[in-house]
Amino acid sequence: MKNTVVIGAQWGDEGKAKITDILARQADLIIRYQGGCNAGHTVVTGGTTYKFHLIPSGILYDNTVCFIGAGCVIHPESFKKEYEELKAQGVNFKNLKISPLATITMPYHIEIDGYSENNAGKGKIGTTKKGIGPTYTDKMARIGLKIQDLYSYEALSEKLDMILPIKNKQLEKVYGLEPYTKECIISLCETYAELFKPYVAFDWQDMLNRYKDKKILFEGAQGVMLDIDYGTYPFVTSSNPIGGGAATGSGYGPTMIQDVVGVSKAYVTRVGEGPFVTELTDEIGKKIQEIGHEFGVTTGRPRRCGWFDAVIMKYAVLVGGITNVALTKIDVFDTFDEIKICTAYKDCRNDKVYTSYPTDVFIHKYLEPIYETMPGWKTSLSGIKTYDELPENAKKYIKKVEDLIGAPIGIISVGPDREQTIFV
Ligand code: GDP
Ligand code: IMO
Ligand code: MG
Repeated sequence: MKNTVVIGAQWGDEGKAKITDILARQADLIIRYQGGCNAGHTVVTGGTTYKFHLIPSGILYDNTVCFIGAGCVIHPESFKKEYEELKAQGVNFKNLKISPLATITMPYHIEIDGYSENNAGKGKIGTTKKGIGPTYTDKMARIGLKIQDLYSYEALSEKLDMILPIKNKQLEKVYGLEPYTKECIISLCETYAELFKPYVAFDWQDMLNRYKDKKILFEGAQGVMLDIDYGTYPFVTSSNPIGGGAATGSGYGPTMIQDVVGVSKAYVTRVGEGPFVTELTDEIGKKIQEIGHEFGVTTGRPRRCGWFDAVIMKYAVLVGGITNVALTKIDVFDTFDEIKICTAYKDCRNDKVYTSYPTDVFIHKYLEPIYETMPGWKTSLSGIKTYDELPENAKKYIKKVEDLIGAPIGIISVGPDREQTIFV
């Protein structure tokens, strides 16, 4: 196995965790490099379903070290809940490591996220309300708290003297929320310090040096179209889910990355607000939602569904640095007579055709998808183990997608279980 980054190629929930889990069999070290508990990652094996938010899904393997990198944000209460739920399922955390440089989501970040969403009117993003945007905002404004601050009273105290006057003014004057006392935050930080103590990797530089010649898997969250720089801004998350994010968020630079697997559904889903050119608001969209069980792992919200969009996928291949594609949930089309693929967009104001992704999302409401229609295969794919066994129409569909996006499809997923995976 080459050192591989697994990223979402669409708007998240592509089945990244399933693919990460399969590739993790061969990995020695898994690094989650961005995002926080906004993610909802599902792994199904042997009839058991595991749900992850921040903890790398590789934790299911006994000998794989799982590192939550500096690019991540950690909400302690959510971490505790996830940890306890997985522990109740028998998951062992002896190999979990947390970067001292990861940023902490404080209670006020959650409050601000909630306030902003509830008062944004038309500008609502539809966030997960996990405090992601406000945490990354403070990190970039250089008023964030890092895991390492929890273990130095002097650093914490000095930082709070700088942060709290600014934060409290914002909380009170901008958001109409209650301010925090220094004593209250210090007391919270003491409980956080206890919670994370067994897992903080103060020796992370030695650890990463030790693993330099081993097999490393970088686990992405969210997806390219939610990337803060390349996604459908402002309807995005606040981190860099693209392959390049692994180079900044993991502790290893770009030279350690050899392969980027872009995970894509055979259709597209999106949770929250924002443009979505191939969205289906009709019965077909409902059918995809029902068969694909398209409801969010983190918030339970129904996911918007639409046909596969080769325009965004081609874009994701470019900006995500994708070398190989994992096409998931193709089994959802088993009963369909025909399946559509969007090959280009047409601007209904002037008939201008886009085959490359137009980054100005404010024109997306004028874009109509141009479709190519493929015949369905009308048989169950869920038990198929090899590419050769696939029905001809499924092969034709896969080949068409591959030709349109300009990247090879190396993995085809025909069901949620580890075993329902075809390596091409
Ligand atoms: P992630 O956030 O990208 O890891 O994806 P999620 O876990 O949020 O959502 C993907 C959902 O699809 C999960 O419920 C998976 O168990 C399920 N899933 C993954 N691959 C397949 C597949 O090939 N077929 C079907 N039917 N379900 C799949
Ligand atoms: P995984 O890793 C799908 C979406 C939210 C919202 C936008 C911003 O499971 O694929 P945020 O809370 O991050 O500020 O919300 O991003 N979003 C996701 N959508 N899958 C995810 O993660 C997501 N994480 C955030 O719905 O539209
Ligand atoms: Mg998800």
